[in-house]
Amino acid sequence: MHSLLSGPLSTQRLTVKIAGLPASLQGKKLVQMSDFHYDGLRLTEKMLEKAIAVSNAAKPDLVVLTGDYVTTTTAPIHQLVLRLKHLQSRYGIYAILGNHDIYYRQSKAEVTAALTSIGIHVLWNQIAYPLGQELPLVGLADKYSKEFNPAPVMNQLDAATPRIVLSHNPDTAEILQAWRVDLQLSGHTHGGQINIPGIGPVGRYYKKLVRYIPSKVRRRVSFLRKDYSVLHHWEWAQGLHQLGKNQLYVNRGLGTYLPGRLFCPPEVTLITLKSG
Ligand SMILES: [Fe+2]
Repeated sequence: MHSLLSGPLSTQRLTVKIAGLPASLQGKKLVQMSDFHYDGLRLTEKMLEKAIAVSNAAKPDLVVLTGDYVTTTTAPIHQLVLRLKHLQSRYGIYAILGNHDIYYRQSKAEVTAALTSIGIHVLWNQIAYPLGQELPLVGLADKYSKEFNPAPVMNQLDAATPRIVLSHNPDTAEILQAWRVDLQLSGHTHGGQINIPGIGPVGRYYKKLVRYIPSKVRRRVSFLRKDYSVLHHWEWAQGLHQLGKNQLYVNRGLGTYLPGRLFCPPEVTLITLKSG
């Protein structure tokens, strides 16, 4: 994908307040990257190299990857991990899978194995403790998978314990309101991809626009079918959102789909934790 279509990489810096964050975790730095869609088409080597360099320069305590490493075929994951091997993180790299990583029956196993082979911890309805027992990191199955079921995982945590939750699709924030989620990190939206200043992501008008496409065409193309929806909550297409006591951050991702990104640059997120 030509950088003209995507715009330059943007580094988003934010400080997130977490209630009850222990003093020892004050100021810890996280990097989030998402939606690589590494398939030789949607992400340039240059953009990927730059993103990795930005992450390493931040000297993060933790790096999290929130899904969609590939687009359809899983073959490119084996090249992608050769690049991701250069990521540096004090307490490790943790990843979840997106809907594109489970596209075919064998995708999930193959993407997981490739990421694992370079030491990345893939969480699928699992809890990890890279920053210690006082701040669990939850990684959920993708919302479009049959295994998306947060209750058995979330219920393992004591309500008094702050936690960070990785969940590819930001729509899950609605369901996750049943639990304490100090910080949910998501991707999937590509920021709405085409974002008109003052109006917002064009994707939210998708259902209205799609009516003008002949039904014969619509039936053949999966994402034009009536029941298909990339996202319900377009208001969560990017950035930090407060949902009651829960917080959601949506990363715009790195890969670009045609017709390109407009006012929606690819993103690396640098998050500093603060007690609040
Ligand atoms: Fe996705």
